[in-house]
Amino acid sequence: MSRNKIALIGAGNIGGTMAHLCALKHLGDVVLYDVIDGLPQGKALDLQQSAPIENFDAEIVGTTKYDDIAGADVCIITAGIARKPGMSRDDLLGTNAKILTQVCDGIKKFAPKSFVIVITNPLDAMVGLVKQKTGFPKNQVVGQSGILDSSRYRTFIAQELKVSVASVSAMVMGGHGDDMVPVRSGCLVSGVPVEKFIPAQRLDEIEARVRNAGGEIVALLKTGSAFYSPASAAVRMAEAYLKDKKEILPCAAYLEGEYGVNGYYFGVPVMIGAGGVEKVIEVELSQREKQLFDVSLSHVKELVAAMERVQKA
Ligand code: LAC
Repeated sequence: MSRNKIALIGAGNIGGTMAHLCALKHLGDVVLYDVIDGLPQGKALDLQQSAPIENFDAEIVGTTKYDDIAGADVCIITAGIARKPGMSRDDLLGTNAKILTQVCDGIKKFAPKSFVIVITNPLDAMVGLVKQKTGFPKNQVVGQSGILDSSRYRTFIAQELKVSVASVSAMVMGGHGDDMVPVRSGCLVSGVPVEKFIPAQRLDEIEARVRNAGGEIVALLKTGSAFYSPASAAVRMAEAYLKDKKEILPCAAYLEGEYGVNGYYFGVPVMIGAGGVEKVIEVELSQREKQLFDVSLSHVKELVAAMERVQKA
């Protein structure tokens, strides 16, 4: 039996944190790739030297060469620029589309069987680009967004009620933008609908904070965006795949008719196992959530159209 191999494309804050998490969780060997020579090698060396303390056997390699990702089981893409204060995720479109086009060449050539998880923003457009440029089937390319957004929703609800996060289940659907859809009808506190505990007006405020949670962190950090929680979210997806967990997680999945959406990546619950995105799960939404879903979808469609314009220019 050989160890799994996880390739992290982009050795910035999310890439480095994911390498750390993969090692701590014993998920496999890690290859940390970046175009900036020295950065992935330095981070890999630092992480490798924590192995005796943390008791992991994973090999962590830093590289600027795509050959080193050869045979990876999972590729997680964070390459690209991150937001600075005042920028929306959509402002990153042109630059990141160019970067990801090169990344896809590398993945296609050296890791054609890998399960590809995309984190680069604007997420819903970038994950579609990766599917298009790699030519991989839809079950093999997925976007990370919903786990992070749902985790933020759960965090804020748990804080409001002063209960354990383990007692709160919640899901955020739709695009990974300011009009994402916190699914209030499905938010449960120990199995009881959240609306029994928190008045509607307060839930509106909490959900507004969820939608802006990434921006709140960007405004504080000033030099970049969130990385601990996005890293945790993506590693959770990789783990579900590598361990064939059949876990149901909200992710950006390619839809072909589900939820009435055709030909777009959009945040919905999916089942992740050894087959990648094995199934899209259709849940019932309230009237209000359906409206929010449609608004978010129209935004994603605009984003994809803008990306297509940028690519033609
Ligand atoms: C966020 C970025 C990573 O939501 O999209 O924080």
